[in-house]
Amino acid sequence: MDSFADFIAGIPKAELHLHIEGTLEPELMIALGKRNGVSLPYPDAAAARQAYNFSDLQSFLDIYYRATAALITEEDFYDLTIAYLKKAASQNVRHAEIFFDPQSHTSRGITFETLIRGIERALMEANRSLNMSTKLIMCILRHLSEKEGFEIFEKALVWKHWIAGIGLDSSERGNPAEKFRNLFERAHHEGFLAVAHAGEEGSAASVRQTLDALHVTRIDHGVHCMDDAVLVAELAEQQIPLTVCPLSNVRLKVFDSMRQHNLKAMLQKGLLVTVNSDDPAYFGGYVNENYIEAAKALQLDRNDIIQLAKNSFTASSLSKIHKQLYLTEIDRYAATHESSSLHF
Ligand code: ADE
Ligand code: ZN
Repeated sequence: MDSFADFIAGIPKAELHLHIEGTLEPELMIALGKRNGVSLPYPDAAAARQAYNFSDLQSFLDIYYRATAALITEEDFYDLTIAYLKKAASQNVRHAEIFFDPQSHTSRGITFETLIRGIERALMEANRSLNMSTKLIMCILRHLSEKEGFEIFEKALVWKHWIAGIGLDSSERGNPAEKFRNLFERAHHEGFLAVAHAGEEGSAASVRQTLDALHVTRIDHGVHCMDDAVLVAELAEQQIPLTVCPLSNVRLKVFDSMRQHNLKAMLQKGLLVTVNSDDPAYFGGYVNENYIEAAKALQLDRNDIIQLAKNSFTASSLSKIHKQLYLTEIDRYAATHESSSLHF
């Protein structure tokens, strides 16, 4: 009989909150550092892993941006992206909406063309040979100015045919969504999907402001919405997706432990929550490990897993017909795995 972990691993799912730079495993970082003659803060992969002890979001971001120094050539961005896609495909991720942070590379003299060509080549390969569809979402770094955001946005327009959406990430504290109101207005005007991180280290008010100021269709994280019952009712009523990242939240001390995580409570409120890995090379697991660790700590049952997998497609930017195909596939999977054990 399949274990519950097997049931979770096998169910088709989408990943909607994944920073490609956050998939840079220490082994690849060290290898790229050597290949490019770039000196990194760690002598080897084990030393890097030891340093990945975070007290909050900012302590992680400092380390995460420093590691991008290893990424120089188009080949590096290809290697980074294809490694993630192979891993995701092995975990039955059938669709991925992938963030990239171009400002963290262009600020080091890497051209937009270099990074996007490398990423896109890997995405095309996955579409062809890994049974996976993908979309690319360009994130604006919120610790920088809106003017700098506009500068990267203008560069990106040349590559618009490869970019589905615009997102907002980096330090939420001190950088309210309001700061990027004009940029997101422009993004809407250009027809991009718009999403933004909010309610990770920020409060429920930050989620509310993000919806009001940026008119995003999805909130990344959003866990602090639960502090405002009126907001929760609205999010549930309008089925606004929240891309939750359980292991990230524990590693960045948003919750003291997985048992304190509010994912189950969010599901019980009827919110359109999904499970994602955020920066898997730093937080101890890819999407399946996120489902499994959350399921163990919060006693998620079979129906919760089926709901989360369905939510991942419903919350995606896939077409209606593609969503329906995946939902039907999940129903079929559930029916043919009825006797799966509820034990890990
Ligand atoms: N960039 C990468 N991971 C992030 C996170 N969890 N929050 C904000 N910005 C990020
Ligand atoms: Zn994130």
